[in-house]
Amino acid sequence: MQGENLFNPSDPGVRLLAQAVQDLPPQALALVYGGPLPGLRQGATRWAIDVREQSAEEPAALVAPWAVDTTPRFRAAAVWPRAPRQGLLRGLPGPRSLGPAARRTPAVRRPQRQGAPSLARTITALLGSCETIERDRGYHLLAAEKTDRFDAKAAAELLAARYEIAEPLLGEVPLLSAPGVFCRKHLDDGTRALLTALAATELPTPRRVIDLGAGIGPLALWAAKRWPKGHVLAVESNVIAASLVRENAARLGCERVEALLSDGLPAAHPWRGTVELALVNPPTHAPPEAFAALVKPLPHWLREGGEAWFVVNRSGRLVQVLQDTRAQIETIEAPGFWIVRARWS
Ligand SMILES: C[S@@+](CC[C@H](N)C(=O)[O-])C[C@H]1O[C@@H](n2cnc3c(N)ncnc32)[C@H](O)[C@@H]1O
Repeated sequence: MQGENLFNPSDPGVRLLAQAVQDLPPQALALVYGGPLPGLRQGATRWAIDVREQSAEEPAALVAPWAVDTTPRFRAAAVWPRAPRQGLLRGLPGPRSLGPAARRTPAVRRPQRQGAPSLARTITALLGSCETIERDRGYHLLAAEKTDRFDAKAAAELLAARYEIAEPLLGEVPLLSAPGVFCRKHLDDGTRALLTALAATELPTPRRVIDLGAGIGPLALWAAKRWPKGHVLAVESNVIAASLVRENAARLGCERVEALLSDGLPAAHPWRGTVELALVNPPTHAPPEAFAALVKPLPHWLREGGEAWFVVNRSGRLVQVLQDTRAQIETIEAPGFWIVRARWS
């Protein structure tokens, strides 16, 4: 999955955005949480949220929006505010880092389906203006200029936006969350179903637990609280989520939770073959190959007698992948979900 290109280069919206910035010198251009755009010269500054967006050919700095260096130095920022990343716009580092000579911040948007007007309102609130400068097959190319109406205070507040998830299953201290992560405002129902099933089951005390696809860490933190001597590795590819796992571990006093920013389980790691328990609320919308690539290394990480617990809303695809690894599988029905328990001998 390394170097996964987020864009379909023949998509009319992608072309529209690429054309709008292609004449700029690369050093004057920031590609904000998207890209690489087709046809651009190499060398633009690109920020990525997920390790899967990085590749040697198309380098990107993995950095959470609030940690971006916002020294004004760009003439333009190109933004592709895709649906799952809408929240990122709230913490858009682009406008803050545009230099005084900045002209336009293009962004494309499909109108009705994904809400160009609401995006335009967000951009206007930050930069002072926003207009549609071109349309193509349902896409709007929005452009905004950084003027002296740029609201630096509002931008800073948006970047600092956090949500608190109060969850009795995890104790009294609420989890911190932020725009740009899975289920950012509440505990996912699947996560709750998995935790409820685990809480009702007698399991041997594990010394090492992995949480694969950890998000902001609810499963990892729950495990650390339940087994006070256990160590937990929370594997997550999204840089915002991984940094929130660290923050949440510190808030909840769970220093035994370590966040590992990684595309799936790494090939080499001292924990390989030593883990007693894996907890997984997998990304069920992932393409089939990516989903299988995430799950298949699990048995190599477990020690003799170890087991993996999953939560899914449909079990077919997971069970198929697990059968390919010769797992012994038990499926447990929970309201709206399946808990899948897998062991390998
Ligand atoms: C369904 S969410 C579950 C998050 C968290 N465990 C929870 O229960 O709230 C799946 C998570 O897997 C992460 N993810 C997806 N693909 C991944 C990969 N290849 N490697 C690591 N994490 C991945 C996503 O970023 C997302 O946070």
